[in-house]
Amino acid sequence: AQLNTAAKAAGLLYFGTAVDNPDLSDSKYIANLETADFGQITPANAMKWQPTEPSQGSYTFTQGDQIASLAKSNNDYLRCHNLVWYNQLPSYITSGSWTNATLIAALKEHINGVVTHYKGQCYAWDVVNEALNEDGTYRQNVFYQYIGEAYIPIAFAAAAAADPNAKLYYNDYNIEYAGSKATGAQRIVKLIQAAGGRIDGVGLQSHFIVGQTPSLATQKANMAAFTALGVDVAITELDIRMTLPDTSALQTQQSTDYQTTTTACVQTKGCVGITLWDYTDKYSWVPGTFSGQGDACPWDSNYNKKPAYYGILAGLQSG
Ligand code: G3I
Repeated sequence: AQLNTAAKAAGLLYFGTAVDNPDLSDSKYIANLETADFGQITPANAMKWQPTEPSQGSYTFTQGDQIASLAKSNNDYLRCHNLVWYNQLPSYITSGSWTNATLIAALKEHINGVVTHYKGQCYAWDVVNEALNEDGTYRQNVFYQYIGEAYIPIAFAAAAAADPNAKLYYNDYNIEYAGSKATGAQRIVKLIQAAGGRIDGVGLQSHFIVGQTPSLATQKANMAAFTALGVDVAITELDIRMTLPDTSALQTQQSTDYQTTTTACVQTKGCVGITLWDYTDKYSWVPGTFSGQGDACPWDSNYNKKPAYYGILAGLQSG
């Protein structure tokens, strides 16, 4: 079996990967995406605020449309990413002179503009991304600064109004195990629900480190703490990096670690799918961000499957 086929057989909706626009000119990259390993894609950058609304009120959807049409032609689920984040914001937002009312208006306008454009095409939207500090308090981003925590339910309400059929997610990292940050994410779910709003899921990004991933029991208990609130969970940005140089021992451990997270999702009712944050080491974001680290993906830079691929497959078959 291949990954998406095995995922569906296990009751998940999809197995997928992030895709960035520069990768699209690589025919080998595209050919792999068209196989039964993948049934879902997420744009790694194209639908974020800076690329979609680079100057206020003027939208550019060319790059996002490329990814959306690839999903359509491959019959893949499209997870749309993301509407509100502190990063990749245009400077008119980060250094604008705002009031509570004007920033709420700009936020609603942006969400309505982007979600309306992709209406009917997104299985899910990451509505708010990475709103929390490690201790579970809110990040002091521009939205929090002018609007307070209300920016979160406001964003979800705007997205719900613009596309009633897209699943609406809160998405973050280091919330894959119990602790202050996971508790903070649960507080966000309850905040939206208490405001009478709709939140359908929580995205567990799962940017892990070889040999340091949370245990199967830990990940399952954590997923259950979210689904108990009446929301789905999804693994949204899975990759497992190592300190280079790569060794066969590290690859074996990486395979075990991929299997653990995959198994946790398969064995959790309400975990809908798994997305890699790119599938090949050739295009991973990791080396550019963490100097000396890399080889985080299940395919190497030459598109050979690593042991991690078979770890994922074993996890998908663990239902
Ligand atoms: O678009 C500009 C381009 O015009 C310029 O020439 C080039 C020069 O560096 O930079 C381009 O922007 C880059 C952008 O990706 C698009 O390729 C940024 O420098 C680069 O920092 C940016 O990185 C992205 C990162 O988010 C931004 O924080 C990664 O590709 C993307 O994989 C990563 O994804 C995030 C998720 O959205 C949220 N969770 C964490 C995850 C990993 O950081």
